[in-house]
Amino acid sequence: MKHLDENNITAEASARLSETPDPRLKEIMTALTRHLHDFAREVRLEPGEWMEGIQFLTRVGQISDDKRQEFILLSDTLGLSALVDMIAHASSNDGATASSLLGPFYRTGVPELQNGANIAAGGPEGERVVMRGRVIGRAGKPISGALIDVWQAASNGLYDLQDPNQPEINMRGRFRSANDGSFTFRTTKPISYSVPTDGPVGKLLRAEGRHSYRPAHIHFMISAEGYETLTTALYNAGDRYIESDAVFGAKDELVAAYIKGGADGADAIEFTFALASCE
Ligand code: BEZ
Ligand code: FE
Repeated sequence: MKHLDENNITAEASARLSETPDPRLKEIMTALTRHLHDFAREVRLEPGEWMEGIQFLTRVGQISDDKRQEFILLSDTLGLSALVDMIAHASSNDGATASSLLGPFYRTGVPELQNGANIAAGGPEGERVVMRGRVIGRAGKPISGALIDVWQAASNGLYDLQDPNQPEINMRGRFRSANDGSFTFRTTKPISYSVPTDGPVGKLLRAEGRHSYRPAHIHFMISAEGYETLTTALYNAGDRYIESDAVFGAKDELVAAYIKGGADGADAIEFTFALASCE
């Protein structure tokens, strides 16, 4: 029998994967095994520490359900979600608006609203603002009929899914761009908010001495026939967390300032979203 030791176990574990029929699964599992083994060797991982890690991952699974996904939050706070997104958009999107994290609070089944509608009508009260957007293709051509799905936290920093005092669907809407690519809606100015910290990921952030805040933002998912769907967000210029987003989603290109000149004296935010054509 072959003698396994700290140095040859990685080659042995990789050899067990050599018959994996799916080549991509084989590549992923071989690299994952190698990196995990290297990690354990590098930090001289102790059995008690690894058991603590397993218990942590177990709690991450146990607290997750169809409304709460602690594994996504773990991936987000590790910077892994942002990295995967960067890899996906590294080369193909020249000239297109940068993407940003989907996050765990997106939901389907939100009604389509008329341009100009107020997505904050169900409260809570906040600073009123107007969003004026435009959707264009890569050559700057306006895209008519694009579907713009928007969602954000209310002025108390909570999404409707987190807050029993908000209507079932609040701070959300779907809009269609007009012939000139424009769309508009009213809302309240987003504020920076904490990601959920009442679970194992929050406990880990505290143990790491990290804050749990995201800079204020509005989420957008924009789709149009012949174009790649864009999932992104606009971040409030000057937000105190813009440089230290707990989930690494904020990007310079997605920072937008609120300007005077919205309807009824409200501030306005303006942004042009450029979609990449499908290959
Ligand atoms: C969000 O922006 O909705 C979000 C993203 C990642 C983790 C938590 C919240
Ligand atoms: Fe968000």
